[in-house]
Amino acid sequence: MTAPLKPSDVTVVDVALGDRAYDIVIGRHVLASLGERIAALRPAVRTAIVTDRTVAKHWLEKAEASLSAAGIASSRVIVDEGEGSKSYAGLEQVSEALIEARIERNDLVIALGGGVVGDLAGFAAAILRRGVDFVQVPTSLLAQVDSSVGGKTGINSPRGKNLLGAFHQPLLVIADTAVLDTLSPRQFRAGYAEVAKYGVLGDEPFFAWLENNHADVFRGGSAREHAIATSCRAKAAIVARDERETGERALLNLGHTFGHALEAATGFSDRLFHGEGVAVGMVLAAELSVALGMMAQADADRVARHLAAVGLPTRLQDIAGFAQEGLADADALMALMAQDKKVRRGRLTFILLEALGRAVIARDVEPATVRDFLEAKLAGKK
Ligand SMILES: NC(=O)c1ccc[n+]([C@@H]2O[C@H](COP(=O)([O-])OP(=O)(O)OC[C@H]3O[C@@H](n4cnc5c(N)ncnc54)[C@H](O)[C@@H]3O)[C@@H](O)[C@H]2O)c1
Ligand SMILES: [Zn+2]
Repeated sequence: MTAPLKPSDVTVVDVALGDRAYDIVIGRHVLASLGERIAALRPAVRTAIVTDRTVAKHWLEKAEASLSAAGIASSRVIVDEGEGSKSYAGLEQVSEALIEARIERNDLVIALGGGVVGDLAGFAAAILRRGVDFVQVPTSLLAQVDSSVGGKTGINSPRGKNLLGAFHQPLLVIADTAVLDTLSPRQFRAGYAEVAKYGVLGDEPFFAWLENNHADVFRGGSAREHAIATSCRAKAAIVARDERETGERALLNLGHTFGHALEAATGFSDRLFHGEGVAVGMVLAAELSVALGMMAQADADRVARHLAAVGLPTRLQDIAGFAQEGLADADALMALMAQDKKVRRGRLTFILLEALGRAVIARDVEPATVRDFLEAKLAGKK
């Protein structure tokens, strides 16, 4: 592992996907270089910035100033903030605005925002005129370390999350770590669960580094750049080997089978952010691994201890109102897990752990075992 960077440093992570390869540029204030970097790739291009209202308030003018300084024309498309915009209505609004802005085959869509804007603008770009290129400017921690990398784009159906979408890789990703200073502490923490995930699933030394340096990551010191760059490198490496998730990419779902069920049980509301569900889910996956005799208890304890240390929920009982509302029901959670798109023909696929830093895909986990495990957890047993 490389030493943490000096604050002025810019790190470039290469996503090695042949003719669809691209750079992730990471550093404090790299947003100012947006125009220049786009001009270098596509001189005289026309652009449209898709963003949400909250992000627009803080960062849209900075992005526009950078583009205009480089002589790049831009128009703006502003959607409501929140998951609700990742919908047919949101897609219609963005697509029509892009057509209105005369974004053509060789032009560019710029997604300035969190995962919602990235997924929505990326999908709109994928289908506009059968595909125009797009640039990701992720503004949430979750988007910088996860959703902006790897080319998954899409919207939700009323019947389920991310059911409509396309693989569409960006042309460039600009992750300005200073932009995260305006993110709410709770949103930052939720994104941090995905950072820790990269350590838990495949990089114990990185996890150990996080145990020692998390305060500086939260504070916005040079550790933040290092944590984001290491996360992007981990995701980029997996995506480069398995772009379409036929195998190894599934490891990135560590904590997500449980996490998605918990998000669904709480109605995908503010009661449980995605990353918070992943934090609880990761601890459950670690505990299940212990229950199956695959991993030592000490490793599971270490995962839980670190997530709790940064203020993330780690137990079902930590979820607001969970027990009172009758959601704490093993059968209901099993039913929700069975609906997850990662489930194939009734068999539960879990990402489990052999050790902290060594995740494996377990395809045939016995549903009865998981049910008993959840029952015990809900009863508050260790
Ligand atoms: N494509 C993928 O591979 C992938 C991976 C993981 C998650 N996702 C998707 O990402 C979405 C979640 O992303 P998210 O957590 O970024 O949510 P989000 O985009 O809704 O952003 C969270 C909130 O933070 C605000 N915000 C964002 N950046 C800000 C900033 N710099 N300052 C102040 N406020 C800011 C937003 O306005 C929003 O209210 C989900 O829809 C999920 O399905 C996609
Ligand atoms: Zn996730």
